[in-house]
Amino acid sequence: MIKTNIKDDFPIFKNYPDLVYLDNAATTQKPRGVIEAVSNYYQKFNSNVHRGLYQLAEESTRIYEDSRKTVAAFIGADQEEIIFTRNTTEGLNLVAYSLGLNLKKGDEIILSLAEHHSNLVPWQIIAQKTGAVLKFIDLNEDGELDLNSSSDGQKGGLKGLLSVKTKIVSLAYISNVLGNINPLKEIFKTVKKFNSQIICIVDAAQSVAHLPLNVKSLQADFVAFSGHKMYGPMGIGVLYGKKEILEKMEPFLGGGDMIAAVYLNHSEYKQGAAKFEAGTPNVAGALGLGEAIRYLQAIGMENIEAKEKELTAYLWERLENFPNIKILGTKDLAKRSSLVAFEYKHVHAHDVGAILSSSNVAVRAGHHCAMPLHKNIGVQASTRISLSFYNMHKDIDQFFIGLQKVGKIFAF
Ligand SMILES: Cc1ncc(COP(=O)(O)O)c(C=O)c1O
Repeated sequence: MIKTNIKDDFPIFKNYPDLVYLDNAATTQKPRGVIEAVSNYYQKFNSNVHRGLYQLAEESTRIYEDSRKTVAAFIGADQEEIIFTRNTTEGLNLVAYSLGLNLKKGDEIILSLAEHHSNLVPWQIIAQKTGAVLKFIDLNEDGELDLNSSSDGQKGGLKGLLSVKTKIVSLAYISNVLGNINPLKEIFKTVKKFNSQIICIVDAAQSVAHLPLNVKSLQADFVAFSGHKMYGPMGIGVLYGKKEILEKMEPFLGGGDMIAAVYLNHSEYKQGAAKFEAGTPNVAGALGLGEAIRYLQAIGMENIEAKEKELTAYLWERLENFPNIKILGTKDLAKRSSLVAFEYKHVHAHDVGAILSSSNVAVRAGHHCAMPLHKNIGVQASTRISLSFYNMHKDIDQFFIGLQKVGKIFAF
């Protein structure tokens, strides 16, 4: 059970007691412990890592590396498999460049039609540079990934798309628009059975704060996520990479801290995650992320899942029957996370968002960085509610008061 006054852990709700924050998929609010950890770092530990020989620098290094251990334990990885990045986007770009630039003309990369631009644009760039080809897993009417159909050459079911040329499969765990939880365990099992050399990548941006994640049981080779979407600070993210693959990859960025030795015309690189962390890292961010993980663990991921499921069902019951609303994504609540996007017929999502804002309700409105997905499902823009375990029934009630206003203003 999650305590009823959980919002008291989040100072922003003290500053804005009337705020109904339903935009947690964009970024979550930060618990006091995370804010204090970051502030404490700059007051008591600030110094650069991996280089100073004095005590403060050693403390700072210890803090940074302890955070790596915390992240590794949280997702079932080894600490040398954890690369600190700025965010999910940087993690996915890192893999795309360091791994993808080795692709040959005609090699195939499988994505889905429901990807966030962060898991699409980097692969487009790589495909343009190498001549590799992008293939897309199609969606059924509910926006669920099609696993079985044949391919029309560009899109189709997973099994129809897999070929001897497939080199990479990169998919979101949870769609940031449809809210569907993709069956990645089953998908990666199928992929690895087809060819164990195919690299399986997870965009975990929308799942990491909501579902337990174990990289080994998923059979994932890479997993990218952002600290700010899991109650941690902005500017810190994680890329998990399987050790054996990291060893063979070229660095993404070159510079200080990622080298073992430097000569005038070439350099030798460090091994493991260190090879991919050039320059001064975000130590305070890493500490804040570690603190966020400890906060989530203290609540318990299973309690978070249970509370968010209950809140989603409460929202769903009324939204499903609300006039002129078309919910995007699967209707099977067992396959959904706590984000729900919808189209309000004949009203632009920006108008819906602005009217909700006048009732102190913060939601996201637009294409949510998933333009091809919106085009594919024939929706120009949508309004998205994304719940956190700190939301309450009364937040959802307030959302419906705002939604009724939309109907009144547009005279439905
Ligand atoms: C599914 C998904 N992938 C990637 C991202 C990019 O995250 P960031 O902006 O933190 O890099 C987002 C952000 O909304 C997302 O929802």
